[in-house]
Amino acid sequence: MELSDSEAAKLYDCLKGEMKAGYAKSGSKIASWYQDWKNFATRPYISDTHGGRFVNNYANAIGEGRYGKYENVGRMPVGSVLAKDSFSVKANGKAAPGPLFLMEKMPKGFNAGTGNWKYTMILPNGRVLGTTNGKGSANVAFCADCHNGMAEDQDYLFFLPEEYRR
Ligand code: HEC
Repeated sequence: MELSDSEAAKLYDCLKGEMKAGYAKSGSKIASWYQDWKNFATRPYISDTHGGRFVNNYANAIGEGRYGKYENVGRMPVGSVLAKDSFSVKANGKAAPGPLFLMEKMPKGFNAGTGNWKYTMILPNGRVLGTTNGKGSANVAFCADCHNGMAEDQDYLFFLPEEYRR
């Protein structure tokens, strides 16, 4: 379902507190903090690759400088965290929080197969579906399968569709 800029922004404003509280039940500190980071999306936009949900793209202080260079990113510094929160909107207009998608840049040696990215998916109720090199890692293998298709000199990042970039 398509939403206008202001409709998408308004829905997100209504939901973001509930989203953060749900994700934070996971015990993840990132879940409690990410909404204070820079959001690179001018508005929540539909991401077909993340379940057709409306999403945002946040980067923490370590990562925001490089992430904002987009295709010229080069390599993201260790400690960078990218957080993509999401919500879904049904045909009847009802909206509900969706999962939180995280990428954390880990030191060399963490996992060559993921470009040393730690992928994590946290469900809206705080359940961690999986995390690279941790519990449920098989559940997030598909993240790297797709992101690895992006060039290494772009650090396996896709960025946002141009019209939604800040
Ligand atoms: C089929 C391909 C695909 C899969 C699977 C996928 N992603 Fe992505 N990811 C993308 C694309 C495309 C973008 C950028 C555009 C967008 O938001 O849709 C992106 C963007 C991201 C970003 C923002 C950083 C960036 O690349 O610019 C994060 C964080 C992220 N994905 C996490 C995840 C996690 C965690 C999973 C697994 C649970 C996952 N992704 C699965 C394609 C994918």
